[in-house]
Amino acid sequence: MPTDTPPAMKGLDRASFTRAFDALTQWATRYIDSLDARDVRTDTQPGDCLNELPPHPPIAGIDLENWGTLIEQIDETVVPNLVHWQSPGFFAYFPCGSSMPGIAAEFISAVLNVNGMLWSTSPAATELEMRMLDWCAEMFNLPAAFRFDAADSAGGGCIQSTASEGVIASLVSARRIQTKRGHDRSKATVYTSNQAHSSIVKAAMITGLADTPDDHSRVRLIDTDADLCMDTQQLRKAIQQDLDDGLCPALVVATVGTTSTGAFDPIEQIGAMLESFGDRRPFFHVDAAWAGAACVCPEHQHLLAGVRHADSLCINPHKWLLTNFDCDLYWVRDRAALVDSMSITPEYLRNSATESGEVIDYRDWHAPLGRRMRALKLWLVIQHFGIDGLQAHIRHQINLAERFEGWIHAHPTLQLSVDRSLALVCFHSAAGNAHTRKLIDEINANGSVLISHALVPLGDQREMTLLARVAVGAGSTQAHHIDRLIEVITTSLAQIDSPT
Ligand SMILES: Cc1ncc(COP(=O)(O)O)c(C=O)c1O
Repeated sequence: MPTDTPPAMKGLDRASFTRAFDALTQWATRYIDSLDARDVRTDTQPGDCLNELPPHPPIAGIDLENWGTLIEQIDETVVPNLVHWQSPGFFAYFPCGSSMPGIAAEFISAVLNVNGMLWSTSPAATELEMRMLDWCAEMFNLPAAFRFDAADSAGGGCIQSTASEGVIASLVSARRIQTKRGHDRSKATVYTSNQAHSSIVKAAMITGLADTPDDHSRVRLIDTDADLCMDTQQLRKAIQQDLDDGLCPALVVATVGTTSTGAFDPIEQIGAMLESFGDRRPFFHVDAAWAGAACVCPEHQHLLAGVRHADSLCINPHKWLLTNFDCDLYWVRDRAALVDSMSITPEYLRNSATESGEVIDYRDWHAPLGRRMRALKLWLVIQHFGIDGLQAHIRHQINLAERFEGWIHAHPTLQLSVDRSLALVCFHSAAGNAHTRKLIDEINANGSVLISHALVPLGDQREMTLLARVAVGAGSTQAHHIDRLIEVITTSLAQIDSPT
């Protein structure tokens, strides 16, 4: 390297860069090829990984010739201490999407490394994101009101890092709207079902509406019906009661595809009921973080038909649409309400484009100022697969889930806990919670698959039932992996039921 090269340019010369990334490509393909044979989970104990890491940073940087040893460290210290979310045997939680174009876009984004906080700080970052949100709105058949490019639309969307951030944005807008209507936002209340994701209560905690998860003074967890869907009448009653008590109903969050069982709240019914509150209607957010991806297929678009009543909506392509983490799509019907609640412009951010009022400045759509160019991921993923390819992916995974559901259905001692929801199958042992717990532990101890659990009220008695969740979603999962899961469950059952 010439002696006047800035220190930060170390390794960015063509020869060093190419050598490092050729080696990285080799490493990546080796890792991806190894996934099928690896245990999905790890036996790492707390502190194991810490113990492998030197307690102090190095004084001298590594010689470029030895850069490959940094990649070796990934294999030695990182990979053995991971849960392999991209394994075809990963059925836990919800999936974490990945694909070649998703990985490529992360690389491009890192090379460009722009900060799209304002339109003027990288116009392409903002305008690509706007177009991708409109493309996705079209793919999911969302109402025109959520699109930038629809005539007279006041809406639009952005990429939030997670669905949890989206619900915070909705809550902040919701309170702002109540103030604008002349209501007392200091008395704001929030409503969601007792099956909703914990991020809604967390949003209430972050915004000062709840001190702890169990503080229900301003948060109402509405009862669900036998299918674990929010009960619209209970919701109506709770809102009315709060109005009667002088409180300020601010936000309702309904879920399309709950985390525990994939239940679908009746968003059409809820939305229509909320309209009846007129000026006291709370802001209505729809959380379709996982299930929304299925709406790329026309046969599932009915799931989101009710969003015509919603003020905001989120869908996470980083869950089930082959787009690497993080990528939460967040749309609003009235972007002014969101921007009003978030916008602050110190002198150092002033610029003529913002002042013209003709551009979108995405820093006004969430808490962070700086933002990565995440829209690249969607652009590459959608062009690589096309709508056809994304539909084929969703249908393939639902077919695999059906294969598994059929096996559970026919099993003498295992029961489907609820109807399969898209690619999520929940089951439990007829012998009760303790037996289901043992079974889940035994299945996961096998290593070749990983499933997760939930606890939900089931049946006429609303008995809290522990269930095993199998969420098909890793891009590489095939029919023989479902058969392997079935085999593991069969041997696990035999193991826990054998007299010792
Ligand atoms: C229905 C639902 N909403 C929200 C979330 C939170 O997602 P995120 O990690 O994007 O905040 C999840 C996570 O699984 C979810 O299942």
